[in-house]
Amino acid sequence: MKFEGNHILSVSQFDRESISRILEISTLMAPYAMRKKRCHVLDGAILSNLFFEPSTRTRVSFGTAFNLLGGFVRETVGQENSSLSKGESLFDTARVISGYSDVIAMRHPTMHSVADFAKGSSVPVINGGDGANEHPTQALLDLFTIQSEMARYDMGLDGLNIVLMGDLKHGRTVHSLSKLISLYNNIKVTMIAPTALQMPDSVVSTLTDAGHEVVITDKIEGNLACDVIYQTRIQQERFASKDEADLYRGHFSLNRKIYQQYCHEHTVIMHPLPRDSRAEANELDIDLNDLDNLAIFRQAQNGVLVRMALFALSLGVESRLSHYEKPV
Ligand code: CP
Repeated sequence: MKFEGNHILSVSQFDRESISRILEISTLMAPYAMRKKRCHVLDGAILSNLFFEPSTRTRVSFGTAFNLLGGFVRETVGQENSSLSKGESLFDTARVISGYSDVIAMRHPTMHSVADFAKGSSVPVINGGDGANEHPTQALLDLFTIQSEMARYDMGLDGLNIVLMGDLKHGRTVHSLSKLISLYNNIKVTMIAPTALQMPDSVVSTLTDAGHEVVITDKIEGNLACDVIYQTRIQQERFASKDEADLYRGHFSLNRKIYQQYCHEHTVIMHPLPRDSRAEANELDIDLNDLDNLAIFRQAQNGVLVRMALFALSLGVESRLSHYEKPV
């Protein structure tokens, strides 16, 4: 895949070779992200960071990643603070903002809206989450995290036994991650969710059509002996009402006792965050916080590396990183 000048809208764009390239460049970003080296390869470039739906990690890590490469960040947060609220179209917004920017990152609550926006943009657009559809940069940082966590146990991305758990219907991160891992070999995916919140058939088919084993269940017991558990939040914002979301909260809470009872010693726990820590949800109990295999904060940190790599690749500067280093 050619990265330079192209949008990043869906994980379906990637093959194994392009993913390897992204993960390789992400690894090269570590010294800059850890402030051991400084790099100004994007000196003077401008990112427009448009977040029309709430975000903490994705928005701030996009901005941090761009700053760490030497660029400037301009932000719009919330539809109510943009002229979308006055009836302006996504196309017109894109035509205007792309005239001010070298690259645009965008999150929007409507499925496929980022792709619609990209049609009006003259610069690369990166999807930071479009409704319940996809979250491609999250899936890439998840894959980077799985690769680095599994390396501690001499395992790679092939042959993985992974559990996806929670709100699999609305969770865009598990949709994107399922599509990405379908590219690897001999994967087993166990999908644990209430029947009404199970994974869309189209995503399940991506895995089964590629020859992988998929188990669909609403039971935790006997299904957590795996390499990676990827827990998710009940996505209340995608339900008709809070009352409807409440019906499903707390069904698949994971805590230290359940981990010790059902998981392998090496089972790594991931979650895209935010985790809902309220007592009625408590999807990842704080008693897991000192578990070495709880990877959630390393996972969030990896978002900076992967987003730095995506900016460098989209803007075609990845081979020039070391030439633009400056003393710390
Ligand atoms: N993982 C994730 O998308 O987090 P935010 O909603 O905080 O960006």
